[in-house]
Amino acid sequence: MIVVACFNGRVIGKKLALHLGASYSELWKEVFPDGELHLKFKTALKGKEVALVQSLSPNPNDSLVELVFAIKTAKELGAKKVVVVAPYLCYARQDKRFHGGEVVSNKIASHLIQHAGADAFYTVAAHLHRVDSLSTLFSIKAVNVSIPNEMADWIKKNIGKDAVVVGPDIESHRVGREVAQLVGSGYDTFLKKRVSGSRIKHTAIAKVECRGKNVVIVDDIISTGGTILGAAKHLKKMGAKSVSAVCVHLMTEAAGDKLKKNGIKYVASSNTIPSKY
Ligand code: R5P
Repeated sequence: MIVVACFNGRVIGKKLALHLGASYSELWKEVFPDGELHLKFKTALKGKEVALVQSLSPNPNDSLVELVFAIKTAKELGAKKVVVVAPYLCYARQDKRFHGGEVVSNKIASHLIQHAGADAFYTVAAHLHRVDSLSTLFSIKAVNVSIPNEMADWIKKNIGKDAVVVGPDIESHRVGREVAQLVGSGYDTFLKKRVSGSRIKHTAIAKVECRGKNVVIVDDIISTGGTILGAAKHLKKMGAKSVSAVCVHLMTEAAGDKLKKNGIKYVASSNTIPSKY
């Protein structure tokens, strides 16, 4: 097998190749003055199994086009099998026509990947809220890796075994409850109402005692940080000694910085979208 990293897949691609004992190459990329991509494989793919690594953030639109072009080309160049490794799957949150006329983007993104010729698809903690599993989106082998053990270990090591785990909204329930069980903490989620893209209203949780505790908010995604800050405000009012945030996907380093500036003690994320956090 050969691991080929697209632009956003370089950090994880190198590690993956090392872990598999596979050879490693990077897709050459240039951006034309008009914004179009010029891409080129630097190594022969004929007859090989190719793992194409691309995180679909930052720049989800460019990253997705780069990945789709790479899959199709790898097949044209004779790759025996193309396994896509996308540590972050973009557009998963738009899984329903919330308002008339809206685009349901998750199905279109998966369609593009699959129909470009991918033979298998691996991702980490895809935001599957109203969709039960990746098999709803893909008919090829599609694996959604979850990392509750890694998140729980980080919490136990850095915050302590008596950390209290909460979720900022119902959508975080799946990942949060599992992490809480592994940490040995009680668990509840806030109720969140998104008033607009940036305005969020939280209703306080009832079942978890936060007074005097080191509380950790666990979520799959931190994007603007608004969800975490809304929940943190309540937790502070409820008497939490400290509030930290642990997520799978931190969309931007700036969001992490914003959380730290606003009193979040620790911010920790996996490296599906590499950053200093
Ligand atoms: C919600 O669907 C997700 O689980 C996250 O809570 C949400 O995407 C976070 O967004 P933001 O950081 O912008 O509030």
